[in-house]
Amino acid sequence: MKEIIVMGSGYGSNFQAIYEYFKDKPLTIKALISDNPRAYIIERARLLNVRSVVLDYKSMGKEKYNEELLKVLSSLEPFNLIVLAGYMRIIPEFIVKKYWKKIINIHPSLLPAFKGLRAIERAYNYGVKITGITIHWVNEFVDEGEIIEQVCIRIEENDNLETLESKIHELEHYYYPRIIERILFHPK
Ligand code: GRF
Repeated sequence: MKEIIVMGSGYGSNFQAIYEYFKDKPLTIKALISDNPRAYIIERARLLNVRSVVLDYKSMGKEKYNEELLKVLSSLEPFNLIVLAGYMRIIPEFIVKKYWKKIINIHPSLLPAFKGLRAIERAYNYGVKITGITIHWVNEFVDEGEIIEQVCIRIEENDNLETLESKIHELEHYYYPRIIERILFHPK
């Protein structure tokens, strides 16, 4: 049985997609970690019976938070992979080093284009004709680790931001679990 940790700060639709994809497969989500006590992802974890650990970044401050995060991760070992799914904090270097090539992230653009926040909206407003998703290893910089996979999509004439967002999320929900599966069960 493989075990993963999911980390997220928001709505949690990727977390849900991962959970559903692996429901009847030999992989379990050992825990959800969130930095945001108000995030809906925590409610999803409750509904799905996944253990959640909430560390309130805002009340702790960065240093304390990162120290606690390392403790929590260490206490959850062993696990096979840390999966960032809408996680809005930077993983500090000492955690990246400890879990080198054990942390992945998904980003809703074709990196290195549109790193950072509101990537779908920025790609749309820029007027690119092709955009997509990137799954990459995490290093200590935002959206900069080695790319594992990218999937592209054409922005059609009749797309608006809303339709584009839902197409991108559909791609994410389809590919993220499958790439996790490939990494853990069929490594090169
Ligand atoms: C996704 O678009 C992901 O690519 C980005 O944040 C969003 C998270 O959405 N990193 P959700 O919380 O999984 O619904």
